[in-house]
Amino acid sequence: MRNTLLVTGGAGFIGSNFVLQQMLDESWFIINLDKLTYAGNLHNLEGIAADRYQFIHGDIGDRALARQLLEKHQPGAIVHFAAESHVDRSIRGPEDFIRTNVDGTFALLEETRAYWSALLDDRRNRFRFLHVSTDEVYGSLGPQDPPFSEITPYAPNSPYAASKAASDHLVRAYHHTYGLPTLTTNCSNNYGRFQFPEKLIPLMILNARDGKALPVYGDGKNVRDWLYVEDHCEAIATVLRRGRPGETYNIGGWNEKPNIEIVQTICDLVDEKLPQAGRSRRELITFVKDRPGHDRRYAMDARKIERELGWKPKATFETGIRKTVSWYLENEAWVRDVTSGSYRQWVATHYSG
Ligand code: NAD
Ligand code: TYD
Repeated sequence: MRNTLLVTGGAGFIGSNFVLQQMLDESWFIINLDKLTYAGNLHNLEGIAADRYQFIHGDIGDRALARQLLEKHQPGAIVHFAAESHVDRSIRGPEDFIRTNVDGTFALLEETRAYWSALLDDRRNRFRFLHVSTDEVYGSLGPQDPPFSEITPYAPNSPYAASKAASDHLVRAYHHTYGLPTLTTNCSNNYGRFQFPEKLIPLMILNARDGKALPVYGDGKNVRDWLYVEDHCEAIATVLRRGRPGETYNIGGWNEKPNIEIVQTICDLVDEKLPQAGRSRRELITFVKDRPGHDRRYAMDARKIERELGWKPKATFETGIRKTVSWYLENEAWVRDVTSGSYRQWVATHYSG
């Protein structure tokens, strides 16, 4: 029987990077279940080996579809990326976040439990459900607080973070109550190719390229811990292979930076690659009204995954951000495709006034 991996949300930013990486590194047959919301993009997966990959257009909340996929393809593991993922959108309209992140994860867990319960011994023991989550479930740190560890109490502040926290709790309960062999990863902010340009780094690269204002929320001193997406994907693969069922693993880049510093670095790299005589992109930086409830600082203690599973990030911020800026400047067709229609509408609504 072939070794099948069911990935949800594999047309999004991290999911598509993960699928491409797994196609190179492992012998999986990959089924990618994705609803193709505004954040899903099949162009990310162009050129993938068709004999080892199948795309299914659908919603994780569609239980009949999930049941049919599980019965037909008999996956040995599920990696669950599918989610609504943008904090600002969750503030403007939380409903989709509850529907997909909470109800959708619940539906997927229920169908997975039914499928897994009926597996025979060896396949049942080896099956894994890996839930991809975020550091935002832990809330906000003060300047001197130690970074979040796996035992930091949950204190989600945005509707996005609350919906992810709820899904984490469901996953935990399915292990504790039913013995479902789950793994949960909580990761810090990712950056790299294929990230939808509503998020800080690609938004700033494209605005800097186009000479548009660079909208920094509040005083620009909010701190995030940035991890290059390929390192995150390798961490997920490591946890999938060697993680202990029922455990959670924090993943981070050991790379805390205030937003303003990120934006200045992007300005300098865009200036280097597309110089404008006598002008610096830093002049485009504009401080705008802060995000409501904006978490001040995130930082991850990623020692457990290093100690137990031997994973640590390979990319430095300097190498990762350079590759990322180059990728966005060199992939005009991809950028044009995702920045049409609804993207323009989001930017116009969100940044007006
Ligand atoms: P993304 O928004 O780029 O992609 C999400 C994908 O899920 C899209 O392809 C979308 O079409 C799909 N999707 C949404 N709703 C769906 C549904 N109901 N059914 C099926 N598919 C659906 O997100 P991302 O940045 O790639 O994040 C992936 C996962 O990683 C999320 O669970 C997110 O919470 C988590 N995460 C993200 C980051 C980050 O920095 N981006 C950091 C830590 C954790
Ligand atoms: P974002 O990429 O939305 O990720 P998250 O909110 O999940 O951490 O934002 C990263 C940081 O950048 C966050 O502190 C908010 C800030 N930010 C801005 O200052 N301006 C912007 O236009 C955006 C989108 C984000």
